[in-house]
Amino acid sequence: MNSASNMFKVAVVGGEGIGPEVTAQSRRILKWFVVERGVPVETREAQYGLVPYLATGKVLPEDTVEAMDQADAILWGATGGPETKEVPSAARKAGSLLSLRRKYDLYANLRPIVASPALAKAAPLKAEVLYGVDFVIIRELTSGIYFGEPRGIETLPDGQRRGFNTEQYTTNQVRRVARAAFELARTRGRKVCSVDKANVLETSVLWREEVTALHRDEFSDVELTHLYVDNAAMQIVRQPRQFDVMVTGNIFGDILSDCAAMASGSLGMLPSASLGPVDRLGRRKALYEPVHGSAPDIAGKGIANPLGSILSVAMMLRLTLNRPDDADLLERAVTAALAAGARTADIAEPGAKRLSTVEMGDAVLNALEAVAVEQKERA
Ligand code: IPM
Ligand code: MG
Repeated sequence: MNSASNMFKVAVVGGEGIGPEVTAQSRRILKWFVVERGVPVETREAQYGLVPYLATGKVLPEDTVEAMDQADAILWGATGGPETKEVPSAARKAGSLLSLRRKYDLYANLRPIVASPALAKAAPLKAEVLYGVDFVIIRELTSGIYFGEPRGIETLPDGQRRGFNTEQYTTNQVRRVARAAFELARTRGRKVCSVDKANVLETSVLWREEVTALHRDEFSDVELTHLYVDNAAMQIVRQPRQFDVMVTGNIFGDILSDCAAMASGSLGMLPSASLGPVDRLGRRKALYEPVHGSAPDIAGKGIANPLGSILSVAMMLRLTLNRPDDADLLERAVTAALAAGARTADIAEPGAKRLSTVEMGDAVLNALEAVAVEQKERA
């Protein structure tokens, strides 16, 4: 909450590829909550990527930096794709999503994996495997091999080249993300599965020791298990229903969360939240974004699935705006729209009518109205 007013500030940054199209729909949804439910939000739209680069020489222009610095929450679309080849890599790096995660210390990345019964037929895994899947991957997002030094590409005396990166974790880096996982588990099924590669990597030996120590000292009411990452990948496709909260490092979380997307039925449906440390006033910076990327092959066609972005707004309602009832309402509306047959191309069963991005936004808005009326009548 911004101290000068009672309004929460939300920076809306559509970015590149399908980012602007899907974010336009989630923004409509957020506006519905402002107008119909009195959620105190002030939005500020800002540009990111190739468009501002061509105008200002920066992918992340001053105005966008200011909007994001001042925001309680950032609603992010997507970054990357072929169009970005026009941006030199130094300029790209200076304003990259990775640099933003680091700048705002967004260390806890929550990626909920929930299978929708309505999508079972269109999903690549069998309906019986998907049945009842509901877990959250918490990925450490600001350390590990993504940021470790030294890193680089060098030329050896014999003329070969050598690329190298550094996987590293400290006690505090492990403990704070493990704490986030245990705390989340306490609000759900009270189970945490920690994923590492402690049979090979020292960073993982440390990871496992620190998670185990924190569990013993403060969270023994939560069940803790450990899996090696290779086994975890297999278990996610074999029996994803077994998981409640899974916590893991940066690169393992990157890979496992794409794998887990299939245990939800569709990548296009998945939201995420990246959370920073809690400050003295109890606030924490947050960035909300769909897990799907910029999907350059379908960008600009108006056919992308906006539900990942829309469900990210539900996470924002719950985690930044302190409106759990409104978050539930939105999730129920999405479920209702799907149950009524609303499908974008990526989740359509053969022969089903395929909605455009805007039409899917309409379908969720209509469902919101209907669910809200139904709730009022029941009250
Ligand atoms: C993700 C993405 C990013 C990552 C890319 C775009 C840098 O794959 O958020 O999962 O690797 O973290
Ligand atoms: Mg990824």
